Amino acid sequence: IPDSLQQMIDAHDLLSKFYHHLLVNTKDGQHALEYLLNRGFTLPIIEKFQIGYSLSSWDIAVKFLAKRKYDGTLMEKAGLIIKSDKENKYFDRFRDRIIFPIMDRNGNIVAFSGRALGDSHPKYLNSPETPIFNKSSTLYNFFSARSSIRKSQQAVLFEGFADVIAASRSGIENGVATMGTSLTDEHISILKRNSQTVTICYDSDSAGIEAAFRAGQLLTKANCQVKVAVLPDGMDPDDYVNQYGEEKLQNEILHNALPYMSFKLMYYRRGKNLQNEGDKLEYIEKVLGEIAKLEKIVEKDLYTRQLSSE
Ligand code: UTP
Ligand code: MN
Ligand code: MN
Ligand code: MN
Ligand code: MN
Repeated sequence: IPDSLQQMIDAHDLLSKFYHHLLVNTKDGQHALEYLLNRGFTLPIIEKFQIGYSLSSWDIAVKFLAKRKYDGTLMEKAGLIIKSDKENKYFDRFRDRIIFPIMDRNGNIVAFSGRALGDSHPKYLNSPETPIFNKSSTLYNFFSARSSIRKSQQAVLFEGFADVIAASRSGIENGVATMGTSLTDEHISILKRNSQTVTICYDSDSAGIEAAFRAGQLLTKANCQVKVAVLPDGMDPDDYVNQYGEEKLQNEILHNALPYMSFKLMYYRRGKNLQNEGDKLEYIEKVLGEIAKLEKIVEKDLYTRQLSSE
């Protein structure tokens, strides 16, 4: 690969080690470490995901990179620093944030996502698109999850970084996440090439449920076997693990994942009162539409009987 790209990768590698050091070994990072520990992150997990902390300084990364002879223009292209409009000066992109390093499929760190410690916006600040980082073809944790995914022929698709990490605390090593975008064809092709089954485990809020519906549609079209793991109302996997314990995410939620068709029935029933004539008709119509699309006779049979008994 071209020298300039290799330098971008090397800079990410060094900077991620620096951010990690600031988090685990310094007084300036102590409040960030406490934030993570309070959220249920453990030291081994912080090591495993190489989580870090960027200080609230304006230029500590700028200086860190300059001292190591990385060209400012190149580092700006890599998304690590930003050029100020007025002066000919650079400042840090990531300031006072928890840093999640993002690897490409070869295990190179090619981007960061920085989470605010409080309520400031955006909650997660991601690296921009760069010559080494393309959001729509990146699945967080795929490099680490790959062997587990291939061996089990199962992947679990989460919404967020914290969910993948909470799942890992529960011994779920085949979890990946998109990075705030909806599922793209590139994501699907990566999943499809490595796994027969994809279990969608998105947040149980309306955005997450809608996104699960759409992701299921796309994955089904790509001939993946799709399941949907449903969390209690309003929770995400990270909340769930912290509230109910690590074992239950696997034993209750993932173990009881619904076939995509059953999820769709639940989806169409959501917010409807089946005692109400109009709601009932609408529901029956939607479900009949889905049944008509099924290819296997046994499945048509099963869901028709299920619908009529309902
Ligand atoms: P969520 O809003 O569900 O956040 O967004 P979360 O993962 O539960 O985060 P915590 O638990 O509050 O820390 C899901 C994902 O969407 C992307 C991130 O990848 C996030 O993990 N996102 C969200 C962004 O890229 N930017 C944002 O400002 C918010
Ligand atoms: Mn360490
Ligand atoms: Mn969400
Ligand atoms: Mn969430
Ligand atoms: Mn969360």
